[in-house]
Parts: sequence; structure tokens; C-alpha cells
Amino acid sequence: MVKLTLNGQQRSFTGASDMPLLWWLRDEIGLTGTKFGCGAGLCGACTVHLDGAAVRSCQTPMAAVAGRQVTTIEGLSATGDHPLQVAWRTLGVPQCGYCQSGQLMQAAALLRRTPHPSDAQIRATMDGNLCRCGTYPRIRAAIMAVSRAGGPV
Ligand code: FES
Ligand code: FES
Repeated sequence: MVKLTLNGQQRSFTGASDMPLLWWLRDEIGLTGTKFGCGAGLCGACTVHLDGAAVRSCQTPMAAVAGRQVTTIEGLSATGDHPLQVAWRTLGVPQCGYCQSGQLMQAAALLRRTPHPSDAQIRATMDGNLCRCGTYPRIRAAIMAVSRAGGPV
């Protein structure tokens, strides 16, 4: 049995230990904010936090989350008002929206680790999160706006 903390709540899992975390989140728990994109670690749509660091949940087996803290987009803020979510709304970042929960989780992990990243650091960190709608300039602008507005998030 795998025991973990998901969005602040204790959970247990008794299925196959090599099941991807993404499958469990979406199909068994019903947290569908985390998206399936490529299933191969290449797009970032499935990004969640594992002990505060951004990981690709499609490439993370359930065995790897035992005893650890998993945070999804649903747990980033209880009210949807994480500073990045506010900036996303203010700047109208999303287009179709499909990639955006992964983008937000990647950006949140960056700002937790590096509250005031340079443009180069933002580009390097966000490089693996693909957006078919090309919202990259607005994503970078929103991250920079949060960075300028305050400290760690
Ligand atoms: S669905 Fe996980 S990286 Fe694309
Ligand atoms: S907003 Fe459409 S894929 Fe990114």
C-alpha cells in the first residue's frame, strides 16, 4: 500500500505500484485539473508538485510518491487566488487553457525556489511546458509580474 498526502489530505493507494500518478489523480481520485498531453514526459501538461518540486505526473509511478506530499492545481490555492492565478487572470494568459494548469504548477515551483527569477531563468524553467496556443509571452509576463510584486509565493 502507498500512503501519501494529496493536497493536504492523507490518502492511500492499493493498486499497481507502477501506475502513473497522473492516472490515479484523474481516473481514481477525479482530480481532472491535471491534464494528459503526451504521456511521455515531453509536454508538461501533467505537471504537479512532489514535495514542492515540479514533476511530470505521467512519468511518476505511484511507488515514487509513498510518504510524500503531492499538490495538484486543485490544491495550489483553496480559493483559486494564488498570486500566479490572479496574475494569469489579470493578464488574460490562457487561450484554450489545456496546458495552463501545468504551466501554473511549473511556475509556482519556480517562484518558490527562486522568488525573483531573471527572464533567462523563467525561459529555461518553463521551456519544457508546451503551449499549442503560443501563450508563452503572457506566461512569462505573468510570472515576472508576480516576482516584481512580492517575495516568495
Ligand atoms: S502528459 Fe506528462 S509530460 Fe506530457
Ligand atoms: S492555452 Fe492552449 S495549449 Fe496552452
